[in-house]
Amino acid sequence: MDKKLITNFDTLATSKSRRDALTVAEAGLQAIDTQVVLQNSIELDGTILRVAGERFDLTRYEHTYVIGFGKVACTAAYTLEQILQERIKEGAVVGLSERVCQTIDTYAGTHPIPSTQNYTATKHIDEVARSAKENDLVIVIVSGGGSALLCSTMAECDQGQKLFNAFLQSGGTIEELNTVRKHISKLKGGGLAQSLYPATVISLIFSDVPGGDLAAVASGPTCFDESTVADAQAIIDCYGLGDFILNETPKDLEYFKRVHNIPIVSNMTALNAMQASARTLGYRADIVSATQYATPKETAAMLTKQVVPGSVQAMGGETKVIVPEGCDGTGGRNGYLALSMLDSLQSGQVFISIASDGHDNTNAAGALVDSETISKATEMSLNIQEYQTNLNSFPFFAAVGGHIRTGQLDSNVSDLLFLLTPKISRDDATITDITAKVLPDSRGKETISVTVTAGEHSGTFSVPSGASTGIREVQVIPARAAVTIVADTVKPALLGTSVLDQSGLDATLRNLGQTPSLAAIGGNVALGVSVAACKAAAQVQGIEIWKYIADLFGHQTQAPAPRLFVNLINGGEHALVGSAIQEHQIIPDTDDVAAAHAAATAVQATLHQLLLKDFKKQDITIGDEGGFVIPSKSIEAPFAYVAAAIEQTDTAVPILMGADMAASSFYKAGEYELEGKQLTAGQLQTVYRGLHKKFPLLQLVEDPFAEHDFAAFAKYQSAQPAVTCIGDDLTTTNKTTLQKAITKQAINGIIIKPNQIGTVSDTLATMQLAYQHNIRCIVSHRSGETMDDFIADLAFGTKSYGLKAGAPTMPERAAKYDRLLAIIQTHE
Ligand code: PGA
Ligand code: ZN
Repeated sequence: MDKKLITNFDTLATSKSRRDALTVAEAGLQAIDTQVVLQNSIELDGTILRVAGERFDLTRYEHTYVIGFGKVACTAAYTLEQILQERIKEGAVVGLSERVCQTIDTYAGTHPIPSTQNYTATKHIDEVARSAKENDLVIVIVSGGGSALLCSTMAECDQGQKLFNAFLQSGGTIEELNTVRKHISKLKGGGLAQSLYPATVISLIFSDVPGGDLAAVASGPTCFDESTVADAQAIIDCYGLGDFILNETPKDLEYFKRVHNIPIVSNMTALNAMQASARTLGYRADIVSATQYATPKETAAMLTKQVVPGSVQAMGGETKVIVPEGCDGTGGRNGYLALSMLDSLQSGQVFISIASDGHDNTNAAGALVDSETISKATEMSLNIQEYQTNLNSFPFFAAVGGHIRTGQLDSNVSDLLFLLTPKISRDDATITDITAKVLPDSRGKETISVTVTAGEHSGTFSVPSGASTGIREVQVIPARAAVTIVADTVKPALLGTSVLDQSGLDATLRNLGQTPSLAAIGGNVALGVSVAACKAAAQVQGIEIWKYIADLFGHQTQAPAPRLFVNLINGGEHALVGSAIQEHQIIPDTDDVAAAHAAATAVQATLHQLLLKDFKKQDITIGDEGGFVIPSKSIEAPFAYVAAAIEQTDTAVPILMGADMAASSFYKAGEYELEGKQLTAGQLQTVYRGLHKKFPLLQLVEDPFAEHDFAAFAKYQSAQPAVTCIGDDLTTTNKTTLQKAITKQAINGIIIKPNQIGTVSDTLATMQLAYQHNIRCIVSHRSGETMDDFIADLAFGTKSYGLKAGAPTMPERAAKYDRLLAIIQTHE
């Protein structure tokens, strides 16, 4: 079958593990397709009919009839006609929807509540059964749902309806329900065998009952029933189900002598196919149980017991759902199980639960969950636990995605579920090479690019560098020396270790660095290796880098997508002329990145026009981060231009102003040197007060004071509580320093620059601390950049508050924005 039964296969297959899991699920569903199983198990060879190993010589029978009931009965009848063709004399079947056949009459009945339609169809079926004589052959299609669809009398219909409703509330098992069903019916519990007697009967059993008890399918119309009226009455009394008129089931064994009950398909057919498919994909595959009837918690415990990387643990059965009183959630038991499994999933694992008929009590067949589901829910601020408690799986998956869709399928065994743990063979993840080379950064200075290789996977990172570097930043080793250190020191230490052990390899890098500033190998070497390994790890797992980071970071969120901090005017150390203030930014106040990007570009264009009015074209230059540089020492002028540009641009989103004062760069000998004046911290704060008053949009301010002056930060923050006061040189992405800033209430925002601290793990640890204290994280580029776009993945993977990446017109800055836009586009 070329066409996939899972209609949204490609939409769901956003990672290698998901694709593999969906392939396994697809294999399971295809194997139980009614046409497929019949064609595999029934063969007509001349006059010999072979049915799953049994042999029937058709010349011995005068007529062949086909009757049937259950969800797949009509499709089965159609397929039987294709095989037997004109040999069928007459037939009648009832299923969920009609299927036009040549000879066999097909009926659409109702399920799970019986109705008159079911009765009408059953009457015809019974007539065909009774017309069969001793020399005739009757092929009976018995499939799940047959208990409701087969209704021998109107009284049985009524009683069946009443019984089903009463049973729903009772907590009784499906076996108990079927025992009673057998005794309110003339056909179930072997009654049909009596009607068919003395014809020869081939009963093709399509089992939807976990465990393979043939008599349980459709309440066993062609199977001898061991239970009695007394047993049925005992169940009715036990659950207080009401009054029912019971009849005894046939106890004369003679009726069953010519009956061949032949299992055609069961959940094992699907489970075996899933196991085979998983093995083909290179997984170890176990069928944990074919008779799972357990709560989600119990199921999770069974599935996670034997988990090893590269394994598929599969089960067939039915999830036990206990509906709490007053619960009005919607969804099927497969969706509910998948939703519940979110509590037990480890990073990278994928879990699928699916109703084999494609109908999980809703128009979805089931659901797929993995860590992406959790990220999406977190990002949408959905409380997973609330959805679990209210058994409200359908709206949950409708919102976050994950519904598996197939439409109504021509198959019906029990539910199918499995947990896939990604393959990470040691070989795949083992670091096999580390190389480094020198390349120029955006300012033409030499930096390094590091590649970490793990077998056929690899990751490369080109390290940026700063100009206004904080005193507490890790050390930078000159590029050429750094390349030698990678080859001579780092490579021998990391070869043979796992690229997936980010914290382990970062610890090794720290040890090799010897000091907190990583003096022995250089922070640039450490970060190059650390990020390159992180990228290689994502590739080994077949997931996006941001997803791998989200897994490392534990799926925390500050914003659905980062706000853009777009630098439009450069000064300070990023410019040769201009004011002492390093960066004047705009921050579109939205998490709609595309809208923010468009707005920023528009404001930048307006700003350019405004500047051209006041300055000669050749006097407007471009700073390190792509912002304009204007030949004016005035502190106020750049703010005024930016404010005017915002005002004069028609944007769809509100725009705020930001600034990186980088005050350490104009702090000299205990004072701040601005516009030729020497200011104390208090006087500088007065200058800021004036700026805030004049430019109310100025709401995000970075490094307003020198990097040692926590107290001045704290004073400023308490004087300007509406302003996000951001530490950069103050904190240098260092967890210990951040803790100090928190204790001193110095900041409520922090710039995150991985190369200030040297490893991915340390970067994430600092961010963890910030998140715990509601400190907004703004992931940032450096003034000396490369074309690398890792920070976009870092910002999105951690769902940080902001991404600061300079002016969108410079290629090395645009690369970051473009990557973020691409992530968001594929993520939707
Ligand atoms: P830097 O500048 O990369 O030169 O340190 C950026 C900043 O200070 O935020
Ligand atoms: Zn800064």
